[in-house]
Amino acid sequence: MESLRTMDDILLDGKRVIVRVDFNVTAGEDGVVDASEDYRIEAALPTIAELRQKRCKVLLLAHIGRPGEDENLVSMEAIHKRLQHLLRDDVRLLPKLYGSQIESIIQGMEQGDVALFPNVRLDEREMTLNNKFAEDLSRVGDAYINEAFSASHRAHTSIVLLPQLLTSAAGRRTVTEVEVLTSLKKTAKKPYIAIVSGSKITTKIGILRYLLANVDKMCLGGKIANVFLASRYNWPGAMFSPDEIAVAKHILEEYEDRIILPTDVVIGNDDGSYTQTVDVSYIPEHVGGVWDIGPKSIAAIVQACSSAETIIWNGPVGHVEVDAYTQGTMALVNALASSSAYRVVGGGDTVNMLEKLKKVDSFNHVSIGGGAMLEFLEGKRLPGIVAITSQN
Ligand code: 3PG
Repeated sequence: MESLRTMDDILLDGKRVIVRVDFNVTAGEDGVVDASEDYRIEAALPTIAELRQKRCKVLLLAHIGRPGEDENLVSMEAIHKRLQHLLRDDVRLLPKLYGSQIESIIQGMEQGDVALFPNVRLDEREMTLNNKFAEDLSRVGDAYINEAFSASHRAHTSIVLLPQLLTSAAGRRTVTEVEVLTSLKKTAKKPYIAIVSGSKITTKIGILRYLLANVDKMCLGGKIANVFLASRYNWPGAMFSPDEIAVAKHILEEYEDRIILPTDVVIGNDDGSYTQTVDVSYIPEHVGGVWDIGPKSIAAIVQACSSAETIIWNGPVGHVEVDAYTQGTMALVNALASSSAYRVVGGGDTVNMLEKLKKVDSFNHVSIGGGAMLEFLEGKRLPGIVAITSQN
């Protein structure tokens, strides 16, 4: 028997506790993390509050962005500001990840104080499994809490090795995520509908197959829907690779009766200054891009969900970074907010939309995980969760 260690299983009172959180949120163009972007920070607040009540020194360790991909990898400042706002208290922004200076700053902190480390991915040893880095990080902690379910699919040093060097357990939110997703896997009531979107079909084959074997209908949106549509209709050849088309064709042949594809889509240029809704069988050769699903497609998804007992939704159905292409996702949020089905939503951009429309509380569970949620559902053992699981 395996069981997840929780904060009730370990002694935390008065300890220096390293809490691995996931504050990987996107600040708006103004560089400020606002109320529609802070869901992952809010999700960690109950655990932080509980540790403060136990007079712990709360040491928050987080990553933002990916080295080599994101320019603003360095700064935790916008997150630090938002965290102070949410806690209505001072949070110490530490200048380094480890070392004697950090050890003496933490020694000088009062019980119940909160500190935030710099972005842990600033050290290249984070993204590999590096024992020396784990030891460096562990020196300032007595205990470790995983409150980063959404990063627990990453075999990274602070997710996998650090919890092995300290007394470790799952934070309150991590426990909820594991419980909700486990019960969804075991006892989802039928009819069970999945709405799946996202970019690369080749990275989602596993979850698509898992869901197709378990749900009654799967509604597709976003780029994934487009590759399926391109495999069926005569879309401009250069849009997808032959591999992607082949995967889509194969899945469609096997699960034709379970997949609901868009019937109309919004095409236009990438800044949304020109848009047009067209039938999926007619995509002009020089289309700027296919960016959202159209009103008929939305109606079909809403119809499929109308008799559902369970709905799982991951990924906005359109290119929501551009206002002109948010219509489909917004319409779906509003329609599903009042559904009587048990509804689980995950994925950063989808959750941001829920926050923007103030609909988070209208859903049964809003996961902080995107990729982690899908991998967990698919049945993969998440390395970060394994690290805080005991064999009884
Ligand atoms: C996420 O945003 O899904 C998590 O923070 C993990 O981030 P990553 O995909 O960059 O590892």
